[in-house]
Amino acid sequence: MSDFRAPTLTRRAFIASAAALSANAMLPLQSIALAAGVREFRLRAGSGRAQIAPEPYGETLVWCYDGKLPGPEIRVRQGERLRIAVENGLEEETTVHWHGVRVPNAMDGVPHLTQPPIAPSETFTYEFDAVDAGTFWYHPHQRSFEQVGRGLYGPLIVEEADPVRVDRDVTWVLSDWRLTKTAEMRNDFGSRHDMMHNGRVGNTVTINGRVPDIFRVRKDERIRLRLINAANARIFALDFGSHEPVVIALDGQPVEPHAPEGGLVVLGPAMRADIMLDMTADAGSQVSVIDRFYEGLEYRLIDLAYEDEPLRDKAPDWPVVLPPNPLPEPDLATAARHEVTFNGGMMGAMVMREMGGSMGDMGRDSSGAMGGMMGGMMGNMSDMMNMMHSGGIWFINGVAAEGHVMDPMLTLARGKSHVIAMTNATAWDHPMHLHGHSFRVISRNGKPTPRREWQDTVLMSPRERVEIAFVADNPGDWMFHCHVLEHQAAGMMGVFRVA
Ligand code: C2O
Ligand code: CU
Repeated sequence: MSDFRAPTLTRRAFIASAAALSANAMLPLQSIALAAGVREFRLRAGSGRAQIAPEPYGETLVWCYDGKLPGPEIRVRQGERLRIAVENGLEEETTVHWHGVRVPNAMDGVPHLTQPPIAPSETFTYEFDAVDAGTFWYHPHQRSFEQVGRGLYGPLIVEEADPVRVDRDVTWVLSDWRLTKTAEMRNDFGSRHDMMHNGRVGNTVTINGRVPDIFRVRKDERIRLRLINAANARIFALDFGSHEPVVIALDGQPVEPHAPEGGLVVLGPAMRADIMLDMTADAGSQVSVIDRFYEGLEYRLIDLAYEDEPLRDKAPDWPVVLPPNPLPEPDLATAARHEVTFNGGMMGAMVMREMGGSMGDMGRDSSGAMGGMMGGMMGNMSDMMNMMHSGGIWFINGVAAEGHVMDPMLTLARGKSHVIAMTNATAWDHPMHLHGHSFRVISRNGKPTPRREWQDTVLMSPRERVEIAFVADNPGDWMFHCHVLEHQAAGMMGVFRVA
């Protein structure tokens, strides 16, 4: 990573940035200095008020950056260096993690592991290069289930040197909240029930910190929509109605442009998707965007409201392929293989039985695909006994994390290719995130993925097996955890050491 060189920077079209500002209704973070490619920013974590629910509801007390919800959009160009002073105006310790950005380990924002947490009223300055262009975000890594859940997060956009042409570049930070009838924040963060089930899924969904109503568009306009799921636990599956979104990047990394599977843009917590959206419905019409992830709980997220006048007389035919980022290609032929199994949660024992026979059968070789899946773990009776006797709720290879400082569960030879074969032996969805690297998702349930997408967070369905591959080129101790923040807090976390 340290020898990455910024590609030649070209001048960026003025139109895109001007349009992005008005579209986002979010002011860019003020750039204090721009000298020799270093961009300086300040962020202050503190409490604030936000109009989350529409009027006549009042404002909700939140924790946020710079008094804004979401935090200010940090926007730089690929190859620039960021220097970000984070001031802690909270009454508890915090840190900032730059989710998806391949930073040096000391800048990763993991309390106690990569830095001492930032004490109240103290400041810590992060500094790193924007090696990859793409859609990223930032959030605390200290008590994330509450700090993120109360509103501490913001978008971090790294523009390509030569961005693809669009009419507007728009960021939607998706999140949800658990509000009372009077739009106050419910204080039941980290409840045992949420930890054991699917996390803190809220009752109020927002885009950029507000319950949305309409988003104005014009016929034959092309929008690059950067979707960021900043929710603790909610998974989205967005249906854009008659529109045909084209996915051009996942988790910030370019992907072969494609229509999303089943027409739904699926985003687990922490995941991002950049989509190209051509506004093809009739002028003057209104098309709903529906979230269909939870069966029986579909709801209208927002309406795309067309102005009466089209923007032009036919859809643009500009290219949509993004330039690749400087990621090292893993060599599958020589890669070291590692097995990782997730266990726990409500109904965990039931799933174990279903997947591998009864407890009494566990020593013996089970037949069939499910049995094979469990083979690695079932051989290890002592892991099983530890899990049953520990207070943890979620386990990775039999261990429940209690904090960020732990013995590495895997040590990966630096500069080498690695395949991590992951088995979700639970009854729940888990978005699994690795720090410091992006990885290719190479197979699901034994079938090669058609696009071998680069991700930093991969959503795993109950009982699913997923293989990822990457070159461990970034030295240090890196968190590997579920991004349902209640699962992370209840043990679903480990450390990969790259040495
Ligand atoms: Cu989005 Cu460990 O983080
Ligand atoms: Cu999880």
